[in-house]
Amino acid sequence: MNKIYIIGVGPGTEDYLLPIARKQIENSDCLISSGRILAMLKYCKKEEFVLDEHFDEVIPYIQAHKDEKKLAVLVSGDAGLYSLLEKLSKEFKKEEYEVIPGISTLQIAFSKIGESWQDAKIISLHGRPVNNLSEEIKAHPKVFLFTDAAFPPQEIAEYLLKEAVENRRAVVLENLTYLNERIIDTDLVNLSKMRGFGLCVMIIRRF
Ligand SMILES: C[S@@+](CC[C@H](N)C(=O)[O-])C[C@H]1O[C@@H](n2cnc3c(N)ncnc32)[C@H](O)[C@@H]1O
Repeated sequence: MNKIYIIGVGPGTEDYLLPIARKQIENSDCLISSGRILAMLKYCKKEEFVLDEHFDEVIPYIQAHKDEKKLAVLVSGDAGLYSLLEKLSKEFKKEEYEVIPGISTLQIAFSKIGESWQDAKIISLHGRPVNNLSEEIKAHPKVFLFTDAAFPPQEIAEYLLKEAVENRRAVVLENLTYLNERIIDTDLVNLSKMRGFGLCVMIIRRF
């Protein structure tokens, strides 16, 4: 029986791809991932299943091909944080898959600001609304947010100001590990006036 490998590949460039992950990718027949991650591994010349427009077809695809091909599902950052692992672990028995961890965007973000994160509240807005976001931010002095293009950093700042969240440092960390990486360390008022953010995470910290 081939195992399905679910592999965290880091935030985006190969500098943060672990050797064990690379070995398993090289040992696979087919890579299942987003176009962004597959672009980093084009040189491996593996068969690809691009998730972007075929997300709903991934489970049937894995069911149909897992016995004949060595499949690797590549997720950004670490597999244990808001990844496809959640869905796959409900569909497949533990004996059928193995997880290889990766370096999370969360780890890179906190290392960039030189702080630890064991006391951070972690929230994902990626593809999901968080109705009580302002309450969470008021309740926790250090919050890490995975963002979504539908609710960009300047709108998060505007919303928090409207909800009377005060005294917060706001750090936006964009395109981490890529050549166009950008880190903006400001406050909610300044952030609410900015525009044009792409792939990013945020740290919202009490001053
Ligand atoms: C579904 S979550 C996956 C998180 C991932 N499992 C991890 O451990 O980092 C996707 C979110 O991660 C963040 N993200 C992924 N790669 C990033 C990068 N290179 N720079 C900044 N944020 C990134 C964005 O907020 C994006 O919406």
